[in-house]
Amino acid sequence: MKTPIRKTAWLLLALAAMLLSCSGDRSKYRIGVSQCSSDVWRDKQNAELKMGAYFNEDIELKFATAYDSDTRQIQQIDSLVESGIDLLIVAPNQIQTISPAIDRAYDKGIPVIVFERKTSSQKFTAFISADNYEMGRTMGKYVVTRLKGRGQVLEVKGLEGSSPAIERHNGFIDAISDAPDIKLVGSIQGDWTEESAVEAAGQWLAENPGTAIDYVFAHNDRMAMGARRVLSAEGRQSRTEYCGIDGLPGENGGIQLVRDSLLDASYIYPTHGDQIIDLAVRILEGQPYEKETMMMSALVTRDNAKVLLMQSEELMRQADKLDLLHEKADSYLHKLATQRIVNGLALGIIALLVVVFVLFYLYHLRKIDLQRERVVNTLWNIKPENVPATAVQSQPEEPEVPQQPEESAPATVSVFITRLKEVIEARLENSDVSVEDLAADMNLSRVQLYRKVKAITGSSPVELLRTARLNRAYHILLTTDKSVSEVAYAVGFTAPSYFTKCFKDEYGMVPGDVRK
Ligand code: FRU
Repeated sequence: MKTPIRKTAWLLLALAAMLLSCSGDRSKYRIGVSQCSSDVWRDKQNAELKMGAYFNEDIELKFATAYDSDTRQIQQIDSLVESGIDLLIVAPNQIQTISPAIDRAYDKGIPVIVFERKTSSQKFTAFISADNYEMGRTMGKYVVTRLKGRGQVLEVKGLEGSSPAIERHNGFIDAISDAPDIKLVGSIQGDWTEESAVEAAGQWLAENPGTAIDYVFAHNDRMAMGARRVLSAEGRQSRTEYCGIDGLPGENGGIQLVRDSLLDASYIYPTHGDQIIDLAVRILEGQPYEKETMMMSALVTRDNAKVLLMQSEELMRQADKLDLLHEKADSYLHKLATQRIVNGLALGIIALLVVVFVLFYLYHLRKIDLQRERVVNTLWNIKPENVPATAVQSQPEEPEVPQQPEESAPATVSVFITRLKEVIEARLENSDVSVEDLAADMNLSRVQLYRKVKAITGSSPVELLRTARLNRAYHILLTTDKSVSEVAYAVGFTAPSYFTKCFKDEYGMVPGDVRK
């Protein structure tokens, strides 16, 4: 009876442990995004990357921004790889410097998507960008047309060593070299920021005081506006036109600058973060993908700026609505997550209660065992170390009888025990005494006696009778000169040899040794 209860208790404990160890969900794919810079263009792209990931619940994005520092970007790529990402999306600050870090990631088996800026190595899984050479060339041809083939041009270059700067420059030079009367009066070095163009243009102006500039081509809109700030402030370059690249929508974006005639032209440099995520998912899921993707882009001029702005504003309005929807969904998911935590806590508490209950129950069972042991021991003054294991374990000498709830009142138990002791003590000399006789003396049926004695002491009446006989024998051996056979007969054993065997089992020595 005790064993199934204990089994159930252990089962409950295991269940509780399982509930307690319930762990949270983890996204299937962790994608690291290493951005070289932080600016409006990157902000737009990061928002699109998040949007792309949003539509795919298996994706978790980890962003790192190097703020135009090679060293920082190298460290960030290494630590993204360390953190166990499944794929790396990277825009390397400069071609040569970042390549070793990208190679390390690739060599560790992490798929790498290089986007928009190139690396010097072939260790990448896919490349996605717009065609920077083509953009430079288109801008060059546009400038030639605008100047009707004659005029002085200044170029403001992007960060030295970054692939878009190199390619935009090459495309631009190739285009204007076809026009003999277009003179490139300078190629000044910026680093993609507006401030870098302000500085470079100021220095150029100081070094070339008398040189007129008809057109400024900057590798991005921010630098075009920086150059404009310096050159138009001088008042000398009032007829100078400016063009850049990026053509961002929105407030103070390239399209609006063209519409407002602050820039003469721009070129849309697509961000398309969601497209990059789609590519990442294809790679991660082993679907076919293009090793090299060239994104579409377009020239922004005063002729189409208004329409483009209208369209982009409409798109942004839709995007804002989507954002709002996402926020709502986010807050819903957040609530859901909180609910999960609450549920988890509740489960945890229940599990803890189960554990406490089970431990308490096991403790209680053990206490009952000890109590029974004590009852038997005190009954016949048996020392605990001499109590045979059989006295406290269930040994179905009698046929197993379904147990009734045991009597609990200690007083009733002790009255019963005292009476039982008297009955056994009175009968033990008689070798013919049976359990029926003992039961009759106790006014119980044989079955009732067995059930009660077993429930209280854990031993059967027969075992108790034998223990009492041996205990009496021990006492007689100590206090008289009777022989072992006489003692055996005196305590109701019919065969001295069997008595000796039982005595040895009980006390670990033969009866003769007691007197020694
Ligand atoms: C954004 C940016 C753009 C530019 C591109 C070149 O970080 O500076 O303005 O077109 O990077 O990689």
